Amino acid sequence: MAILVTGGAGYIGSHTVIELDKAGFDVVIVDNFSNSSPEVLNRLKTITGKDFPLYEGDILDRDFLVSVFEKENIDSVIHFAGFKAVGESVEKPLEYYHNNITGTLVLLDVMRQFNVKDIVFSSSATVYGMNNVVPFKEEMPTSATNPYGYTKVMLEQILNDVAFSDSDWSVTNLRYFNPIGAHESGLIGEAPNGIPNNLSPYITQVAVGKLEKLHIFGNDYDTPDGTCIRDFIHVNDLAAGHSAALNYLFNNENLGFDAINLGSEKGYSVLEILSNFEKAVGKEIPYVIDGRRAGDIAVCYADASKAKKLLNWEAKYTIEDMCRDSWNWQKKNPNGFKD
Ligand code: NAD
Ligand code: UD1
Repeated sequence: MAILVTGGAGYIGSHTVIELDKAGFDVVIVDNFSNSSPEVLNRLKTITGKDFPLYEGDILDRDFLVSVFEKENIDSVIHFAGFKAVGESVEKPLEYYHNNITGTLVLLDVMRQFNVKDIVFSSSATVYGMNNVVPFKEEMPTSATNPYGYTKVMLEQILNDVAFSDSDWSVTNLRYFNPIGAHESGLIGEAPNGIPNNLSPYITQVAVGKLEKLHIFGNDYDTPDGTCIRDFIHVNDLAAGHSAALNYLFNNENLGFDAINLGSEKGYSVLEILSNFEKAVGKEIPYVIDGRRAGDIAVCYADASKAKKLLNWEAKYTIEDMCRDSWNWQKKNPNGFKD
């Protein structure tokens, strides 16, 4: 029996494949490489010694997905495949709604056809919107401020409805906080296309000399140093959370829909992250203070007690580990997988 990992060549997916392999799961990957590189598979082989079955194709293509389910003995699905850039989603809402929502609908329909009804879904802390108070807890109301965020809010609703309609379904809906870091080998990591939107890859690209300086979006927030506070989580901890979620699905029947936060429960400000990166890199990283970025909230961190209770999972890596591993990946691969 195998676990189908959609988007398994991507940043979080590739780290999760290693973790699943370590835990003894057989893995089948589906990816169309729209935001990743086939080179990831070579790197995964160097790390694990395994050639994972890879089906190159689009989850929007029903016939393609059916052919994968016909060939492989799929037991459950971890669904990472989707677009994830907030700014781009504002410019290309139709592409985002189509890929993320239609893609998931096609996947769920094919799963139903093959009677595979266990799924772990990649949601995001973005669903807590602008109006909740930290720490964020799963029962809080969800909302969004951009099309990417709406795809997650809507998909959570869809998955909830599917689980409600048929008690054979078990949906573990994981809400990730801010993933950073990379595998300790430095062979895989986050490789954004173009100029990064997120803080960690922006900082490491300044440190490696690809970008001139960091632009800090606002230092007038109601926080101790005026910059925003986020809950950063090592991608290896996230990967372990997926393995724990699968065990939860296997050890329990008819779970219905569970939303579960995966975060460290610790908040670090943008300036604190910068200073931790400076220690990891061993030099100062230039920055300027700019105005606030639209849609940013001042403070975001998780209450992760539900993950501890249900999945027996908690984050282990420190902020020092995260900055060290992000930097190790960046300095060894200044141009991502193109090197
Ligand atoms: P990623 O872009 O690195 O990985 C996504 C993978 O899915 C890529 O390899 C891409 O080629 C593939 N893909 C996209 N659309 C596809 C399609 N239609 N058919 C087949 N493959 C397709 O992103 P990631 O950072 O690994 O994120 C994985 C998931 O986690 C996404 O759903 C994302 O929204 C969610 N998430 C990410 C973050 C984050 O900060 N990275 C935070 C919260 C949630
Ligand atoms: C962003 C997305 C969120 C998504 C998450 C993970 C927005 C508004 N939110 O979260 O939906 O789930 O990424 O992909 O885009 N910062 C700078 N300079 C930079 C980049 C970021 O100062 O060049 C600051 C931001 O203002 C923020 C913090 O760093 O305060 C973290 O930003 P980022 O890494 O983009 O993550 P989020 O905004 O938390």
